[in-house]
This record gives sequence, C-alpha cells and structure tokens, in this order.
Amino acid sequence: MSARFAVIGGTGTGVNTQGELVDEQVVDTPFGAPSAPLRQFLIDGRPVWFLPRHGDGHQIAPHLVNYAANLTALHDVGVTHVIALNAVGIIGRRAPVGGLLIPNQIIDYTWGRRHTVRDGDVAVLDHIDFTEPYSEELRGQLLAAAQAVGLEVADGGVYGATQGPRLETAAEVARLARDGVEVIGMTGMPEASIARELDLSYACIALIVNEAAGQGEGDIHAQLHAAMDQARSAANLLLASFFETIFESKG
Ligand code: HPA
Repeated sequence: MSARFAVIGGTGTGVNTQGELVDEQVVDTPFGAPSAPLRQFLIDGRPVWFLPRHGDGHQIAPHLVNYAANLTALHDVGVTHVIALNAVGIIGRRAPVGGLLIPNQIIDYTWGRRHTVRDGDVAVLDHIDFTEPYSEELRGQLLAAAQAVGLEVADGGVYGATQGPRLETAAEVARLARDGVEVIGMTGMPEASIARELDLSYACIALIVNEAAGQGEGDIHAQLHAAMDQARSAANLLLASFFETIFESKG
C-alpha cells in the first residue's frame, strides 16, 4: 500500500494549506472526538490530511489534547505516515531560535494523560518497542527535503515532553539539561507513542520559538512571538519540499 500522509499542526503552526480542500470528515473514535474535523488537501496533486492539535480555535491545552482520538482518527481514514509540528524551547545553542530541529529521542515528563490505546481496553495489550521513538526513514526524508532547498535543520536531539500549560522554572530546565534534553515542548507525548501503537510512521519537526527558561536574557513570550513566524515559514518550506520530493519519487 502506498504511503498516506498527515500533518498534525501545533501552536502557531497552522499548516500552510495552499492546497485545495478536497475532503472534510467529522470522525468519532472509541476514545472520543479528535481535536477538529480531519481535512484533506491536495498538495502537488496528492491528498494530505491535516489536523490542528489544539483545535480549530486553538482552544485545547496541551494536557487536554485527546491524543488517542487524534491518532486513531487519522489511522482510521487510512493514514500511514504522520509528520508532527511542535513548538519548542531550546536548551543550549545547537540551533537558533526561529530554526528547526528534527529530534531522534524523547524523554516523557508528562502525567495524567491518556497515554495508550493498547492497554487491553479497546485494543489488546501490547508493550510496543519504543527504543527509537521516531521513524528513521521519515526523519531522513525530512532532512533530505531540507537540504534540497538549502534549509538548515538540526539533525537529532532529545525532545523533553513537559506537562504544561505553564512554562518551566529555571531549575527544571537545568534538570532537563542534566537529563540530556535539548528541546522542550508540551505535546510530543503521548502522541509519538500512540502513533507507534497504531503502527503509524511518525516524525517531529520541532519549531524552535524560544530559549528555555533561565537560558536566555529576555522575556520568553516576547521571544516566542517574534520567532514564531520565522519558524513557521521554515516549517512550511520544509513541508513543501518534503511533499514535492516524496510525491515525485513515487511517480
Ligand atoms: N517549554 C515547553 N514548551 C514549549 C516551550 C518551552 O520553553 N516553548 C514552546 N513550547
């Protein structure tokens, strides 16, 4: 079966849906409703599904997103590959604010979220292998797509998923740094692990919108608002290149 793609948009990262809207489905799942109707756009003449993680009006907080419903809904319409856009704060100077990073590892600090669809309730119990939380193939394709358009994207890094909705304290960020975390966001988990439970290939484009708490000088929110447009433009450029190369290579 050929790959069928979805993009899950995050904070401020409403995808540039220049394509033609060809389908919209209000889906229900055993876990409840997804964040919004699933919308399918034609990108380079091929269908791609889009789902805004925080809802159409950006009203759903990170810890209240129904990750199980979102991934199940995408799975049920036939999606096989998911690209997640996640805003993050960066620890250290590996990549610039306003830039992108494609993480290759995760540490999950979230709690109290429905974090599995394979607990023996709706689907049989499974202990998925999560050694490599992201699809290496999809990560490689994203990095190649970035290179094709001369976009600098940091390859790999540990994504620390925090509970939110508040930002971290400086001491918490210092601890995360000691753990090896390089970018911090609130929505990377349990999205990635539920995607794996549903056998979806999954990769994350992390949009670096601020220096993590205690790492920079200025006001975090001011930095975040200033950097969002730049990071979003970079993500849209990357996605456009990705779909162009993927769809071309499939003829
Ligand atoms: N911490 C957690 N989540 C975030 C941040 C941050 O600094 N920036 C954007 N999302």
